[in-house]
Amino acid sequence: MADPATDPASLEKEFLAAIENASTLSELEEVRLAALGKKGRVSELLKSLGGMTAEERQEQGPIINGLKQTLSQALDHRKSSLEIEALNIRLAAETEDVTLPVQPRALSDGRLHPISQVTEEIVTIFADMGFSVAEGPDVETDFHNFTALNIPESHPARQMHDTFYFEENEDGERLLLRTHTSPVQIRTMEAGEPPFRFIAPGRTYRCDSDQTHTPMFHQVEGLVIDKDTHLGHLKWVLETFLSAFFEVDGVGLRLRPSYFPFTEPSMEVDVQCARAGNEIRIGEGTDWMEILGCGMVHPNVLTNVGIDPEVYQGFAFGMGIDRLAMLKYGMPDLRAFFDADLRWLRHYGFSALNVPTLQRGLSVDEGI
Ligand code: PHE
Repeated sequence: MADPATDPASLEKEFLAAIENASTLSELEEVRLAALGKKGRVSELLKSLGGMTAEERQEQGPIINGLKQTLSQALDHRKSSLEIEALNIRLAAETEDVTLPVQPRALSDGRLHPISQVTEEIVTIFADMGFSVAEGPDVETDFHNFTALNIPESHPARQMHDTFYFEENEDGERLLLRTHTSPVQIRTMEAGEPPFRFIAPGRTYRCDSDQTHTPMFHQVEGLVIDKDTHLGHLKWVLETFLSAFFEVDGVGLRLRPSYFPFTEPSMEVDVQCARAGNEIRIGEGTDWMEILGCGMVHPNVLTNVGIDPEVYQGFAFGMGIDRLAMLKYGMPDLRAFFDADLRWLRHYGFSALNVPTLQRGLSVDEGI
């Protein structure tokens, strides 16, 4: 009868059971050492092969090596399941319940700036009309801000922009703070293929400061380029946007001929309004208020970005987000937007949980 202390079949049974019963990684390590460690019983058995006759070795060799392999595999297997168990226990212990109700204080103390709110409202309305949102850098090249937009060097329109320039770099190039969001038209058209339909909200800079101008302000650009886009589409988009934004049933528009180097024809758009003292109501009355600039994209601009103006055409518009915010929410002085006065922000700010939607309303503040 084989000695169960050294018989491979008994050892296999004994160690497989021990592996299965090990309930921690250190217990499992003990089992491994007892079997396969330097002085382990299976290791001793392997060593005994050296003292056997050639025939014995031929018979016992594969059996003992097979035992070693079986145990190694079982050890690996058990090790990975113990590791998973250990991880699961740790994950369960470190769980954070993110479904806890929001602390009311966090809501009353933190308010969204009206610029953020109005930008969200604008994006929501245009997204509903199928526009995507594009972005570009605040620090621009002269080419993107002017030249590609059909404003060559020495063009008088450059003076109109009160540009903040950086110092010349080694290549003799002068970077600048973009004076409008129109360079995003150029960047987005350079990077893609027509058709295009996007808006580009963002910061813009001009050296100017009074009650309605600050050196940094915000604009939103719009661009639509396709094979048969025309002025009627532009008018519809603006009417639809303005009545949705001011939350009125309809708003009268007046398109006046104007001039921008990058559009032809160019127009300035006035919205119908009623003025009573300091109050302005959009979509009522018989007064007009200038609100944005727009036009059909100039063929030179399309050519500058490699689009054939014989095949494609479209419209662009640009408007001041700050001005839209002032008109909609009745803030008299633009400079206060950037004073970081918490009392102002508590008064004019918005709850972060009232995300604007067209279904619920853009500006509902239910004080959630
Ligand atoms: N970029 C112009 C401005 O800042 C606005 C505009 C944009 C006009 C697009 C026409 C078309 O005044």
